[in-house]
Amino acid sequence: MKTELCTVLSIEKPIISAPMGGAAGPALVAAVSDAGGFGVIPLWDKPVEQVRNGIAEVRALTSRNFAVNLNLSFPYEDQLQACIDEQVFAVSLFWGMEPAAIKAAKAGGLVVMASIGTAEEARIAADAGADIIVAQGWESGGHVWGRVATMALVPAVVDAVDKPVVAAGGIADGRGMAAALMLGASGVWIGTRFLASKEATIHDAYQQGILRASESQTEWYQDLYDVAWPNAPHRALANSTSEKWRNAGSPTPGDRPDEGEIIGRRPSGEPVVRYQSYTPLSDTTGDIAAMSLWAGQGVSLVREIMPAAKIVEEISRDAERALRSCCASLFDDQV
Ligand SMILES: Cc1cc2nc3c(=O)[nH]c(=O)nc-3n(C[C@H](O)[C@H](O)[C@H](O)COP(=O)(O)O)c2cc1C
Repeated sequence: MKTELCTVLSIEKPIISAPMGGAAGPALVAAVSDAGGFGVIPLWDKPVEQVRNGIAEVRALTSRNFAVNLNLSFPYEDQLQACIDEQVFAVSLFWGMEPAAIKAAKAGGLVVMASIGTAEEARIAADAGADIIVAQGWESGGHVWGRVATMALVPAVVDAVDKPVVAAGGIADGRGMAAALMLGASGVWIGTRFLASKEATIHDAYQQGILRASESQTEWYQDLYDVAWPNAPHRALANSTSEKWRNAGSPTPGDRPDEGEIIGRRPSGEPVVRYQSYTPLSDTTGDIAAMSLWAGQGVSLVREIMPAAKIVEEISRDAERALRSCCASLFDDQV
């Protein structure tokens, strides 16, 4: 299976592992790139020196290309310059539409992936020179920029721009990938499914929660968890924290029940408090299930913890099968 995305990124399988703060580290990114897909490492919360280290860590594990993910709601200029200096292959820009950032990255020789939530934003990104448009649907796990569902967003974006469009949100298996390609996407951007990879750096209890959850057990919140930047709606598994908050009438921050309660400790020993935006890492202790367990609506399709390379292989194989068999069975009189 070869799409325009494969050509732009020099990859064999049009599957991108989404940047996931606290969950997608160098091992996951390298495994996906080595498997013929494309990994994206989130380094937006790191000072410049650690951005350089993060790039070096991925390079120590793979000689394949990958992208660095930066967050445009923070000062990004120095981090971007580090990516340019280090000659990373691509940069992924999210949470904001800044033509200046896209132009600066292009001028520095990087392939630019711009995450958007509407066709209008896609046009702005494409006009500024973005090479790849990531259309993030509302089903997505983590921080959700857009309000439109993937099914409606992707074709609208495909019609709006003459660039490869990557579908994100709710895609967790080969059927989802096949559907995205039928909508005109050139590839898929997958987060939640890779939370159940062996390489994901999250706590076992979080992974088990992902395996158990049904499609109706994630919720979209305007501001349940205290995200580090303003206006950052998010989707996570419903849990005891969201239940407490809902039972109290969904109050705004400042009035939520048990604010400030320590519910666990980071591996460093620092406390994790209720409503904190924190992705529990492997060595976190405490009430893991009460923490911010980001997940998208495709969670019900995630049934097994697998090596990331196997996930890439399985999704690619099943998408190809779905496309071939579906088309043949619908029109078998013409085959
Ligand atoms: C645990 C988690 C952390 C995330 N962190 C980031 C991030 O740091 N940067 C980013 O651009 N997107 C982030 N996202 C969103 C993903 O890039 C992606 O859009 C989303 O996971 C796609 O939907 P899916 O989870 O249904 O596959 C995160 C998602 C999850 C689940």
